[in-house]
Amino acid sequence: MARSHDAVGHAKITCTSRRNKFLRRGAFQRVVRRLKAEVMREMDRWERQEGIAFLKRVGVREGDTVVDFGARVGHYTVPAAAIVGSKGKVYAFDKNAAALAELKEQSPATIADRIVRVHTTGVTELDRPDESVDVCLFYDILHMLPAISRQALYKEARRVLTDSGVLSVYPKHVAEDGPADHFKDMSAKEVMREIRASGFSLRDKICGRLSHDDTLVSGCVWNFIKAVDAS
Ligand SMILES: C[S@@+](CC[C@H](N)C(=O)[O-])C[C@H]1O[C@@H](n2cnc3c(N)ncnc32)[C@H](O)[C@@H]1O
Repeated sequence: MARSHDAVGHAKITCTSRRNKFLRRGAFQRVVRRLKAEVMREMDRWERQEGIAFLKRVGVREGDTVVDFGARVGHYTVPAAAIVGSKGKVYAFDKNAAALAELKEQSPATIADRIVRVHTTGVTELDRPDESVDVCLFYDILHMLPAISRQALYKEARRVLTDSGVLSVYPKHVAEDGPADHFKDMSAKEVMREIRASGFSLRDKICGRLSHDDTLVSGCVWNFIKAVDAS
């Protein structure tokens, strides 16, 4: 009798604690969903305001042709498309088809026709004519490429950029800043040196609140122009 009483009590406790666990998990998931929605709203606001102001400082202008290499879901593609207007184009290159599909889904209808999504196999070629691009964005992408591919990409940037064109680089994951992939043993100074050695001169560095991995962080981009003395 006592044993069966214990068994019932135990079952009740187990049941109550499972229910509490379930309720706690439900509450936790609701908090996570709310936070995610808030982050997405913040990113949307950034793309419509600060992101536009930032890319204007980089040099993106109305009517421009922009290449966003490694665009992912387009946190920079979208503000760039807002700036270039109906006469401009933004080419969003990426090897990740799912990311480009999300870019398509999330792009405001008013700017969608200015965005050309280019799904690549991972080759570092820019399928654009010579001297036809005003701004190339290499944001948070170079660390993913081995040296030989980076060299090929710099060469392509030199080829497609107009004489007054800008190569804008957001150098993430270098040795002193969350080292990863091909930059884990490379300092920012070394990355800067390799870009200069590839025929570019530093125009300026500009800093602000930037998008990185779906969050907003303080950071700086480097803006280069084609060096006149390089062949
Ligand atoms: C870290 S995300 C950066 C996204 C975006 N530029 C930004 O700053 O928000 C890097 C993106 O580059 C893409 N990527 C990496 N290697 C690539 C390659 N060889 N060719 C094209 N895209 C590449 C990845 O698929 C990913 O979407």
